[in-house]
Amino acid sequence: MKVQGRPMRTIWLEPDGQAVGIIDQTRLPHAFVTARLGTLEEAAHAIRAMRVRGAPLIGATAAYGVWLALREDASDAALARAREVLGATRPTAVNLHWALEQMRQLLEPLPVSERPSAAKQRAAELCDEDVAINRAMGGHGLKLLEAAWERKGRQGRLEVLTHCNAGWLATVDWGTALSPIYLAHDAGLPVHVWVDETRPRNQGAGLTAWELGQHGVPHTVIADNVGGHLMQHGQVDLCLVGTDRTTAHGDVANKIGTYLKALAAKDNGVPFYVALPSPTIDWSLRDGVREIPIEQRDGTELSDVTGRLASGEVATVRVTPEGSASANYAFDVTPARLVTALITERGVCPATEEGLRSLFPERAGR
Ligand code: MRU
Repeated sequence: MKVQGRPMRTIWLEPDGQAVGIIDQTRLPHAFVTARLGTLEEAAHAIRAMRVRGAPLIGATAAYGVWLALREDASDAALARAREVLGATRPTAVNLHWALEQMRQLLEPLPVSERPSAAKQRAAELCDEDVAINRAMGGHGLKLLEAAWERKGRQGRLEVLTHCNAGWLATVDWGTALSPIYLAHDAGLPVHVWVDETRPRNQGAGLTAWELGQHGVPHTVIADNVGGHLMQHGQVDLCLVGTDRTTAHGDVANKIGTYLKALAAKDNGVPFYVALPSPTIDWSLRDGVREIPIEQRDGTELSDVTGRLASGEVATVRVTPEGSASANYAFDVTPARLVTALITERGVCPATEEGLRSLFPERAGR
């Protein structure tokens, strides 16, 4: 995607080849700031503090984190430690663990001397693969948007509701849920996006709105509780979200509040689509509600809000009374029965075990 007209990814190898560059997403939308990650600890901190976030991007950062660790020490013990440190950063998105496993399978059998360069190359490949996957997913999702536009009789705007940020900032490029939206906009479909603010961290208000704005996609930020009302009044043609972990049966973990949108969509006959790259599928899990680990983050993310003051200064203020406790659940699980279809890089399928296995037959029997 482009930032101020300049093509950009969310993660890259710095020109000197000695560090990894990222966009510091904790500074958006108020400032566009990039940062260098030069050590395992810096990579782990970037994921934990959500300087990088979004399931595919934290996987890509973890892969580069392994390289940063091995360039100091490429022993078996150092590889195991890197996997442990990075694997402990965030629990819900399975892409993180998938990327670490990809790195382990490649690196463990190699002689120690070959590991650093192999790790660097594989991390770069995983990034390129993510871009290709997301672009392919966008093409499949675009067909669903075009069909919705036809069903609507090509009248007015195509109204899409999204939650959190599943755009290019959440991936290496293109995004998951927003990839079809970018393609639709570029193809001339009059798409308009209702952007859930996505408290407590405001990934919708701060990140999705920012990246849609950079690309010129018409959008409106709404408070998290508005979606049901809009759906009751025929103002949403479809919902389109991403996911951090989807079970083999099609249960979908995504940012907290996604489940409530899916319930409202079901009640109002609004299609609810989930876009996911295959590394987001956890083939080992069946019951998402019981088995997917749900991250709980520090309560200050809820009690405190950061924004830009009229003076231009960025400040953090407390919005809850001193002494009130805050519980900060970061994700919830939408059961497969509420999902109209899954959009993957191989096509669109029902949110069922049969549906997923029809697209990924190599997983049959596992
Ligand atoms: O806590 P975050 O900002 O990392 O959560 C991100 C999401 O919930 C996205 O919807 C998800 O990663 C899928 S999109 C690539």
